[in-house]
Amino acid sequence: MGWNDQIEWWRHAAIYQVYVRSFADGDGDGVGDLPGITARLPYLRDLGVDALWITPFYTSPQNDHGYDVADYCDVDPLFGQLSDADALLDRAHELGLKVIVDLVPNHTSDAHDWFQAALAAGPGSPERERYLFREGRGADGAEPPNNWESVFGGPAWTRVEDGEWYLHLFDSTQPDLNWRHPEVGDMFEEVLTFWLDRGVDGFRVDVAHGLFKEANLRDQVVHSGEERPTNQLPSSMVERRLKDEPMWDQPEVHEVYRRWRRILEKYDGERMNVAEAWTQTPESMANFVRPDEMNQSFNFSWLLADWSATEFADVITGTLAALEPVGATPTWVLSNHDVTRHVTRYGGGAQGLARARAATLAMLALPGSSYLYQGEELGLEQVDVEPEFRQDPSWFRTGEPGRDGCRVPIPWGGQEAPFEFGPGAGHPWIPQPAEWAAQTVEAQAADPGSTLAFYRAALAARRGFATTAGDEVEMLDLGADVLAFRRGPVTVVLNCGQKPVVLPAGDVLMASGPVDGELPADTAVWLA
Ligand code: GLC
Repeated sequence: MGWNDQIEWWRHAAIYQVYVRSFADGDGDGVGDLPGITARLPYLRDLGVDALWITPFYTSPQNDHGYDVADYCDVDPLFGQLSDADALLDRAHELGLKVIVDLVPNHTSDAHDWFQAALAAGPGSPERERYLFREGRGADGAEPPNNWESVFGGPAWTRVEDGEWYLHLFDSTQPDLNWRHPEVGDMFEEVLTFWLDRGVDGFRVDVAHGLFKEANLRDQVVHSGEERPTNQLPSSMVERRLKDEPMWDQPEVHEVYRRWRRILEKYDGERMNVAEAWTQTPESMANFVRPDEMNQSFNFSWLLADWSATEFADVITGTLAALEPVGATPTWVLSNHDVTRHVTRYGGGAQGLARARAATLAMLALPGSSYLYQGEELGLEQVDVEPEFRQDPSWFRTGEPGRDGCRVPIPWGGQEAPFEFGPGAGHPWIPQPAEWAAQTVEAQAADPGSTLAFYRAALAARRGFATTAGDEVEMLDLGADVLAFRRGPVTVVLNCGQKPVVLPAGDVLMASGPVDGELPADTAVWLA
């Protein structure tokens, strides 16, 4: 049975990622918030997405913009209060939008009660057992317990006053939990239940390939001269794709997702979860979406691919082949809050935008769910953020620019910054480029040739076949520079080469740019 025979909403959805602090500011403090999102929900309905995924809005010192959670069951005052979350859920559901919230189980904030208790209780205490505290190496324990590095750069261990070290695969303010401790699993069961009871439709599970580490916390074997794929992630995030990984993707993690699946299934309304799992292979990604585990896993392979028809074709065939044995539906992602925006990855400027629109159009025709990142519907580029405004912990740990450039607040309208990001003229937490005046929602809504108009039209047209076109994809050979495939009644052609190509027969249902008989370079079409 193909997945179209039992269609749950998430199997073919277009899901829009809201980066809370940069989407819409309801109270004018320069930081986005929940009331700001609620007020803009009609925009998402009109855009034509099925759901939104909201990045963490829980109580947090904001060292990693909410991915450092101090209280999983409350809203940070920066973003509102619990009643604002309830109001957002109600309004979204009224508008027919599903809501996915972020769940951060690999680590807490160092401000979480558990970590504070662990610090206070000292070595050997049960409180320390909930995290990964160890003695150091060397004569006086002054060396970290092993050689692991933080994803954000530098050692993955920090020493506390009494001499013990704790593990943090991310920032030092994000201590890793000890998932071998039963209280950890029990706590997250309560968190899941808390939000499911409030009406969320699903969870995006942060660092889903983390949680368990090899129990002995052995050194990582680091091979010299390994080839490094190029992409825009912090280099440590990329390197580990080819490394010995005692800290990632351990078999024990799957029992957690089986437990969570059983919880989700107790609720009505097709609740779901989607894994953020940076696995080394498509096959190990597929392990996260076995029938009794996660519903979906982000598939980052397209986001890691260069502008190349053969690479894109490999992404599609490789993804479908890996998921087929477990019967899971694919997902597709071109941008998110951790990577350089795809307009910029594809070269920026007019060509980068043309390519980004073309890749998006190809993606949206595929079976499964497409995850869109706020601002891509405006064709926004990565911003070169001045150092004084950078907040990414990886910037502070490595001196590399980090991820702030894809997190610049959305320009909604008006001629100058803050472009109606919030009420009044308050400054957003990262300044927006002056040239965004031409790219505001207001400006683009009035222009039928805009990227916003393109996304709206593509998402509307997608609704015409997303649930009925089946999950079979037939790859077509139109030459090495052309990605071409057929899905049900729709034929997709994307020209990654330099020269125009002759289109196969069919009516143009959607085009990513001007098409006149032939398909120009950096352009895609749907033919029906
Ligand atoms: C995930 C998030 C990223 C965050 C990290 C640590 O990769 O997407 O933004 O910094 O986890 O929680």
